[in-house]
Amino acid sequence: MAKAKTMYYCSNCGNASGKWIGKCPACGEWNTFVEEVISKPSETKPGFVAGKTKSAPIQIHQIVNQREDRIDTMSTEFNRVLGGGLVPGSIVLIGGEPGIGKSTLLLQMALNLKGKKILYLSGEESPQQIKMRADRLKGNNPDCYILNETSTTDLFQHTLELAPDLVIIDSIQTMHTDTIDSTAGSISQIRETAGELQRFAKLSNTPVLLIGHITKDGNLAGPKVLEHMVDAVLQFEGDQHYGFRILRSIKNRYGSTSELGIYEMGAAGLREVTNPSELLLSQREEETSGVAIAAMIEGQRPMLIETQALVGTAVYGTPQRSSTGFDLRRLNMLLAVIEKRSGFRLSTKDVFLNIAGGLRVEDPAIDLAVVAAILSSAEEVAIGHDICFAGEVGLSGEIRAVSRVESRIAEAEKLGFKQIFVSKYGLKGLDIKKLNIEVVPLTRVTELVKKLI
Ligand code: TYD
Ligand code: MG
Repeated sequence: MAKAKTMYYCSNCGNASGKWIGKCPACGEWNTFVEEVISKPSETKPGFVAGKTKSAPIQIHQIVNQREDRIDTMSTEFNRVLGGGLVPGSIVLIGGEPGIGKSTLLLQMALNLKGKKILYLSGEESPQQIKMRADRLKGNNPDCYILNETSTTDLFQHTLELAPDLVIIDSIQTMHTDTIDSTAGSISQIRETAGELQRFAKLSNTPVLLIGHITKDGNLAGPKVLEHMVDAVLQFEGDQHYGFRILRSIKNRYGSTSELGIYEMGAAGLREVTNPSELLLSQREEETSGVAIAAMIEGQRPMLIETQALVGTAVYGTPQRSSTGFDLRRLNMLLAVIEKRSGFRLSTKDVFLNIAGGLRVEDPAIDLAVVAAILSSAEEVAIGHDICFAGEVGLSGEIRAVSRVESRIAEAEKLGFKQIFVSKYGLKGLDIKKLNIEVVPLTRVTELVKKLI
């Protein structure tokens, strides 16, 4: 008889190996490799058998187009990230660091979904703890059922009796199936339970929302296959010390992955932020140097955000460069460009950069605002409240066009800005005369210096 084939998997990140190793080469964790049977030995496993099968191939044009009726989650932000609501029978994974608000987000949704029967299964908290949280949140849905359970067999038993419209699992790492022996949270348990839940979702046409933890390096804990098994992966992120939370779609079989939802955590749960710019611009009375506002785009939404820079004489030999919410290497590159192309001596200065609200910005269009904030702080000249920037800065000091400049200009105009500095190259075909905002075209960083200082 053939031997059962086994592999070793890292229980932290899911990395596979043919033999046992002490330290995972992918995530750096120690003693995380576990052995798993990947295929049962079989005497005969022919690739081709003549005979009848249940499924039959059909021509693509014969497949009837079914309009999926999406379930409205009663939350514009959540619907947007999902691509227009929950698809029946779909399985969605929501990942995030501990304490970021995953349980709050889903409990709040469950409480607001009046008229729908929801089964909220928690393996992490007792019903009393969940009730205490529910009391802080608005909304009360009499058909929101709480179940303190970790076994999938029992869960499926309850779903038969209750017939819920939606199942929430908090969290997949606490679930276990009786079909295999390993402990809850182990890689094979996660894979098996997720597989069972997936079959349940598809066969009963009930959507399932899974909460998943993420590891230190920001990956979803558990095997990568978990991400392949589900229909959508959403990430809930934000800085613990700030109120903002961002729900980002990483994978979505039913919608775009560039969408994002913004929330603010408060004493009564999560509040949807429909106009992010108002929150991201700090309220200031007088104009201060070192502050510039960028018109950036996150997902599909334009928003204005404040960048703050502090440039000072270095006390120690090596000047310090530090940045929060912006790539440090890119900051160093921009400093080199300013120094080389416009003659500012910044190599002997300390430079600190901060993006307001604890957001991490990837949009290159923020470059111009960063440069403006640095120049403003270095020269001690304040930039007006009603001026904003959108442009990418290249190595030769050129200001490059950025995507969807018209929506950035429109957002700035809507918020009452008087001037927006953009790349001249991005303005082709745009009618900027009729706008209530002055669009200032730039080609090089030196022009920005002249305009500001
Ligand atoms: P929680 O949903 O338990 O996080 P997760 O499930 O991702 O681990 O959120 C816990 C945090 O949210 C906790 O630090 C307290 C905070 N919080 C509020 O600030 N306001 C609220 O109304 C609630 C319910 C929680
Ligand atoms: Mg939780």
